Amino acid sequence: MISALKRMNRWRMKRFPLTDFERAFASVEPHALMGLRALARLYSGTREVVREGIEGDIVECGVARGGSAGLLARALRDAGSDKRMWLYDNFEGMPEPDPKRDPDYEAARKYVGACKGDEVQVRELVTGLRGPGEIQIVKGLFQDTLPFRAPQRVALLHLDCDWYQSVRFCLDTLYDRMEPGGILQLDDYHFWEGCRKAVDEFFLNRKIEPRLVTIDASSVWMRIPAAHSSSAK
Ligand SMILES: C[S@@+](CC[C@H](N)C(=O)[O-])C[C@H]1O[C@@H](n2cnc3c(N)ncnc32)[C@H](O)[C@@H]1O
Repeated sequence: MISALKRMNRWRMKRFPLTDFERAFASVEPHALMGLRALARLYSGTREVVREGIEGDIVECGVARGGSAGLLARALRDAGSDKRMWLYDNFEGMPEPDPKRDPDYEAARKYVGACKGDEVQVRELVTGLRGPGEIQIVKGLFQDTLPFRAPQRVALLHLDCDWYQSVRFCLDTLYDRMEPGGILQLDDYHFWEGCRKAVDEFFLNRKIEPRLVTIDASSVWMRIPAAHSSSAK
């Protein structure tokens, strides 16, 4: 019976081979804290910036157990790219939300310490999926690390850090380093009110009307407008 099943599966795999994304997803699923659609968009977005020759590195703020970071790594490998990856997290779980800035503070505070990842395990996972290629894992609060260790040019920025202050600080620090045509993906825009407020206030202050595209019940993404001038130039 088992060998018949194995034979059947081998036949299925030959006839209907998995897509690159499906293979990548299978290797990160046990570690990922994001939905399938958001992961699929992240995978495609990474391959798009490579294919389109967008300059700059790949950056993720909010790594946890490395699920989405592993997918980014695998997408770069599948695309044959030598782009550098930067991964930021305190690896201590979610910090305190801000009662004044996170409108859903009462719900949010229940998650303090949640999503704790292990830096060593993340490094192992991501390095295994990336193959050769530089990976910078920067441990600590974004507010303490980003001002001192961050790339000058960013092709793709994935923000998955939930609270107002985390999201706002990342945007304030990294948005101007993004390349025109680059991709910004925001994991919690439709889910955590603090995240949405941070994004909306950031763009309002800059007088930018972002063309956010909804991915699922939580995530959105956008292309950096062609008129945008990266601070690296
Ligand atoms: C939802 S998890 C990330 C999940 C991951 N992207 C995935 O899909 O597998 C959010 C992460 O952001 C980190 N985080 C949030 N705010 C932070 C801050 N201000 N500084 C450092 N890390 C932060 C938390 O520690 C947590 O690991």
